Amino acid sequence: MGHDLKGQRVLVTGGAGFVGSNLVRRLVAEGAEITILDDFFTGRMENLRDIDTADYRLVRGSVTDSGLVRQLVSQVEWVFHLAARNIIASTRNPYEDFQTNIGGTLNILLAARDFHPQRVLYTSSVSVYGNPRYLPINEDDCISLLTPYAVSKFSGEGYCQAFYESYGLPVVVVRYSNVYGPWQDPQNPYCGVVAKFMGKAQKGLLLEIHGDGEQTRDFTFMEDAVEATILAAVSPKSAGEVFNIGTGVEANVNTLARLVSDLYGLELKPVYIDRRDIDNIRRRVVNIEKVRRILRWVPRVTLAEGLLRTKQWLQAVGP
Ligand SMILES: NC(=O)c1ccc[n+]([C@@H]2O[C@H](COP(=O)([O-])OP(=O)(O)OC[C@H]3O[C@@H](n4cnc5c(N)ncnc54)[C@H](O)[C@@H]3O)[C@@H](O)[C@H]2O)c1
Repeated sequence: MGHDLKGQRVLVTGGAGFVGSNLVRRLVAEGAEITILDDFFTGRMENLRDIDTADYRLVRGSVTDSGLVRQLVSQVEWVFHLAARNIIASTRNPYEDFQTNIGGTLNILLAARDFHPQRVLYTSSVSVYGNPRYLPINEDDCISLLTPYAVSKFSGEGYCQAFYESYGLPVVVVRYSNVYGPWQDPQNPYCGVVAKFMGKAQKGLLLEIHGDGEQTRDFTFMEDAVEATILAAVSPKSAGEVFNIGTGVEANVNTLARLVSDLYGLELKPVYIDRRDIDNIRRRVVNIEKVRRILRWVPRVTLAEGLLRTKQWLQAVGP
């Protein structure tokens, strides 16, 4: 297996966000020494509220601040780079997306080139596949950039690859597919469809489906995504690699709505509303053979189980 992160100094950019805060929780359990860099664009202090403040150092700032990034990267052995403008923010303001998702990533890599952390892990997205021609999608299938967000996430990947090839920087890229679960805030206008449905169902409100609901996605439970992220970072075999992180199970939005409705005993049928610009991807499910083979990672939580655990979290803890 890879390195033990106990006592290791780790930088998590975007650590106050949904996935980032869950990664921090896991790194605390591993005994890592954690620094979070976040500008709180979508991140929230509430996401960290159950973690002892002695267990991490919080730096409020932006990955676009190259001096700050340099200073922080110089102090750690591991970099988990999650900070990003998400797809909705990015579609509204592609220039800010460019500055954070591309410029911020370049800042991280430039600093890492000078200070040699053990690994830089970059979180990309299955958005880079656009509307795939074949399913399930392999890592080396066609890239098709249909949104500014896909462009910026893929540019970040491109820089990672270039820094690996040109400077020998040990980077690894994970492409997440629709991560959901505890600490995803349904109130956040940028949250994904699972959190939106759960938030509505919890209040007994109608579920709203954009388009006809036949669009499919590969929904990944947060804990599985975090586990894969750690494995990808610490594995000696992963430098220079790109991994799909998903389940290999294709689920359509109508099915998701039905599962959520059943979970809450909702009698009301969902309503169908306008298709959004960002909903231009019809079908998506990824092949996870590579991550299974190289990292020995398999997702453990089914969609039904993940939704149940998210509901339990919403009821016990709340967003
Ligand atoms: N959640 C998913 O389904 C999913 C899918 C594919 C890829 N990803 C990627 O995973 C990462 C984490 O996503 P998430 O779902 O937790 O989103 P999130 O919006 O909850 O987290 C992103 C975090 O980055 C911070 N941030 C944004 N701009 C910043 C800046 N300039 N400087 C410092 N911090 C900044 C935000 O405040 C937030 O805390 C992102 O890189 C995202 O592109 C997520």
